[in-house]
Order: sequence, then C-alpha cells, then structure tokens
Amino acid sequence: MQTKTAPNNYPKQQKTDWEQVRAQFNLGKEYIHLAASQFLASHPKPVREAIDRYRQALDQDPELYTQEQENDLMQQAREAAARYFGHPEPDNIAMTDSTTMGLGTIYAGLGLSKGQEILTTEHDHYSHHESIRGATYRTGATYRRVPMYENLSEVTPEEMVEAIMNAIQDQTRLVGITWVHSSTGLKTPVAQIAQAIARLNQSRDEDHKVLLLVDGVHGFGIERETFQELGCDFFVSGCHKWTYGPRGTGLVAATTQAWQHVTPVIPSFTEVMDVVIAEEERPSQMDGKQMTPGGFHSLEHRWALTQAFQFLESIGKEQVWERVHYLNRLCKEGLAAMPHVTLHTPLSDELSAGIIAFEVEGYSTQDTVKHLLHHKITCTAAPYRTSYARFTPGIYNTPAEIEKALEVVYAMK
Ligand SMILES: Cc1ncc(COP(=O)(O)O)c(C=O)c1O
Repeated sequence: MQTKTAPNNYPKQQKTDWEQVRAQFNLGKEYIHLAASQFLASHPKPVREAIDRYRQALDQDPELYTQEQENDLMQQAREAAARYFGHPEPDNIAMTDSTTMGLGTIYAGLGLSKGQEILTTEHDHYSHHESIRGATYRTGATYRRVPMYENLSEVTPEEMVEAIMNAIQDQTRLVGITWVHSSTGLKTPVAQIAQAIARLNQSRDEDHKVLLLVDGVHGFGIERETFQELGCDFFVSGCHKWTYGPRGTGLVAATTQAWQHVTPVIPSFTEVMDVVIAEEERPSQMDGKQMTPGGFHSLEHRWALTQAFQFLESIGKEQVWERVHYLNRLCKEGLAAMPHVTLHTPLSDELSAGIIAFEVEGYSTQDTVKHLLHHKITCTAAPYRTSYARFTPGIYNTPAEIEKALEVVYAMK
C-alpha cells in the first residue's frame, strides 16, 4: 500500500517543453479545446495517478487507510496550496469542493447584523450574488451592487478602484468582488483595491473595518500574485479550473483576523479531533481547519490536490503566466483585427487573464458556440444575462490551435 504522497519530484524546466506539458493531459484529439478551463479541468497525469493510487488504497482498507492517512494527506494538500499561493500560514486555508462552496461557507458564516451592508458589483457570478442575498436575508443586513466601470472598452484600474471606494459607506462591512470576470474576461485590480480599503480602515475600529472578499477562481493558477500581495481578507477559489486540480476541490485562504469574523455552517470534524474530543462548542480561535466543511469527503480527490500544485510549480508560475497570456494575446489580437467581430476583453495583460469574450456579427452567442463546435472547436456561452461567447486558452493549447480557431471565426463573415 502506498502510504505517503510522492515528493515534489517534478524539477522546474529551464525552457518549457509545451508539447510535453500538453502530453500530460488526456484531452481528446477530435476537438481543439478552447474552453477546457472554464468549467472543469482535465486532470494532468500526476493528478490522475495520485487519485488512482489513493482510490486503490481506500478501496483496499478504507477504515485503516482513512484513520492512518486522512489528516496527514489533507495537511500536505493544505501546505502545497499555501506554498503555491505564498500564504505564510497553511492552517489559514480551508478546503472546500468548489468556489461556490467557499462563497456559501463564508457568507453564511459571516457575523452580520441589521444596519450593516455588503457591497458587491454588477459583474460577479450568480453563486456570489446568491450567497450574499442569502446572508443578508437571514441577518437583516442589506446589500448593494454597483458597476465598476462605465465603458468596458475604456476601463482603467484607477476607475475600478474609485468605483469601489466611492461606493463604500459607513455601514459597509464587506466588499465582495471577482478577480477575473467570467462575463467579459476583465481582470480587476485586487491589490490596489485592498490597499485603498486598508487606508480607509485605519480610521475604523475592528468591528467596523471593511473586509475584502475575492472570488479568485479565474485568476488562480494563471496569475502570479501571492495571497499577501493581493492583500484581501478572504480569497475564494475552486481548484478544478486553472489549477488543474481534481474535480470537486477548492479552497478559501484568509488571514487569522478575518477567520475570527466567521462561524462554521457545516462543522469541521476529522481534522480538529482535539476540539471534538474536548466537546468545545466554538473554539476560541477560528482558522481554516475549523472552517473546512466537515464530514468525510471524496478524499482521493482532495488529497491529490498536492500533485496539482506540484505540477504547476514544476512548470513554474512565471512560465504558466507567460504562456497563458501569450496564447490569449495571440487570440485576442486576431479577433480584434476582424471587422465582423467585437472583442469585449481588454488586450492588456494588466486587465485580462485567460478568458476572451467576443461576439460575431450576424450570429447569436449560442449560434457562435454551435458553429465553432461544428468545426471541432470548443467554446462556451457565458451564463449571464448579457452573454458573450468565450475562448479560454490554457497551457495545453498551442499557437497553431489558436490560428485554426481564428481561421474558423474569420470565415464567419
Ligand atoms: C467567476 C466565477 N465564480 C464562481 C464560479 C463557480 O465555480 P465552481 O464550479 O468552482 O463553484 C464560476 C464558474 O465558472 C465563475 O465563473
């Protein structure tokens, strides 16, 4: 029986062999996969192998293996996440199943009262807005949604910072934003917003400080900023999109102080046995372990998160950033040059990451997706009231695939 995770045995490559990276994924050859990181990732080889290994061990001796390994392997996954994300305190990371579970966990557990409000924007995902709506409905607090810009084609980081700061009021307890909007591909200046809020908080006492929560799922795994550089209080993400982690994995990273403002909705269990045995009702010090929704999980998937972070580190954070931005730029420049295409995502690296939102004249978004699929190119329709077609080129794509997709879009004129 395999009892320990493999060590970090993927040496960093000096010059990345992208063919080799692509070969780690079992992506079907029939399609050009330009939507693979949007919903659920394909597992790269080290992740597939780790899942198989843990599954076999669990099937063989479930009770023994779980007792013997659960906390060790979960802690290794937490530490791998902390190392990858530059979080200095692994125990301040809660493990979840998805971005949605992370958002629900934080908003439902947040200490809010009547007279306080949550400020959010018009650009966030349905799970984010619904988590806020539920939290305010239950507590009597209120929420407001504001736009972050007037005109997407002219948006600047300064305009977005100003939009948030101007909207904060005395009663604002938390600001909930999204790092990369999945409706348009716009990347928001999280660090600048966090710095502006920190300045404002200097004149507020602890219970009235404005907390910053970020849905980071479409930046996590592409962008290079560490948790500390982003400077938010809560960072919520799935790990099954751009981090290529096992399906059904996610995390919430937070600061020690931020964790003190939430209470678990689903109690933690196996990882906090000392608290369980002492029958403590609410530990005096909350952290990511306490805030990990409890019960036994699909453990072979959670544990194999370690291999997902190791896989990304083996390629290198800088190399991944460069490759994803390079492929996205290639695709966006091609689309922007076509008179019958409206590119909605900004071209600049500062204002975009891995999502490209566009429209083709004479085609509805659904028809664009269908047309591309007919030509064996995958693409998604954004699930928003204003819905654009989206490409999401990732590390397994090649410049030739982007060229091919551009040819098909060009021929739609
Ligand atoms: C911005 C954003 N947040 C949250 C989600 C939900 O992600 P998950 O499947 O991890 O819950 C999505 C889905 O793609 C998304 O685009």
